[in-house]
Amino acid sequence: MKTIRQETVENYSKRNSDHYDDPTNKNFLYGKKTEEFVKSIVFNNKEKTVLDIGCGTGFVFDILGEKIKDDKIKFIGVEPAEGMLEIAKKKYTDYKNVEFKTGTFSEIPYNDESVDKITSTLALHWVPSIKSSLKEVKRVLKPGGSVDIMLTEKDDGDSFKNPIIAAMKKHLNFKQIMNAATLSQRLSKNHMKEKLLEFFDENDYQIDVKNVKQQIFGNFDDHMKWWKSRSEQIISEIGNKDSFLVDLKVELEKIKTEKGIPFDLSLLYINVKKK
Ligand SMILES: C[S@@+](CC[C@H](N)C(=O)[O-])C[C@H]1O[C@@H](n2cnc3c(N)ncnc32)[C@H](O)[C@@H]1O
Repeated sequence: MKTIRQETVENYSKRNSDHYDDPTNKNFLYGKKTEEFVKSIVFNNKEKTVLDIGCGTGFVFDILGEKIKDDKIKFIGVEPAEGMLEIAKKKYTDYKNVEFKTGTFSEIPYNDESVDKITSTLALHWVPSIKSSLKEVKRVLKPGGSVDIMLTEKDDGDSFKNPIIAAMKKHLNFKQIMNAATLSQRLSKNHMKEKLLEFFDENDYQIDVKNVKQQIFGNFDDHMKWWKSRSEQIISEIGNKDSFLVDLKVELEKIKTEKGIPFDLSLLYINVKKK
């Protein structure tokens, strides 16, 4: 039997990849925040290798834009979902300095101490174990290297929780709802910092973890576009997805304000660098 996490990856491949590059997903909510985060990443111009983990369709490289054209730097994307990876590979076939490989956070297909910078956006919360993921990050990072990771914080999407659970109750039993609810890792800022300290010594590394919060409003269609690209896996066990979406619309309309339907973003921005 497949684990629910294998289903997450399969769903990213089969369904989510079809609409992941939809402009609403890229320019709204998580997409917009990803762009802000990636643009804030500091490069020291000594990097020879940049590794993006859980690269999906290559969004981080899309945002880096001109920098990707610097052929003195090798850019590597690692991703477990084949459907996402195929889209990324097609975009960058003409770039000799860009390569993509199948892999996960806990199995990064690169040698020890081989990478100058590791980036990742909105993938680390999908891993089965934060500990084995950070162990791998530390293993492949060169001693003087740096890490920039963005992931969801434990309170992310709080305003959406009740409507989603109410709609789920019409389609799933208690155990299935609990499975869906525990699908992603939910860490606070302090908990994340504790995990990083297990692998990065504060005497050698500067470790910053920021909790960035923002309430964003949208109409039902806007929300469904990003939701289908990023979260459809949580309803993989629902047979009649169209009927679920009708029920979800009814529930989300109940929390609508004059500004629209709110979503409470709560993200963690991690930066680790040598002191
Ligand atoms: C929300 S998407 C983010 C993709 C891309 N980084 C971006 O910002 O557009 C999450 C990605 O994490 C990938 N993922 C799931 N489990 C993973 C794991 N254990 N290790 C690495 N990536 C994983 C998914 O397949 C998916 O492509």
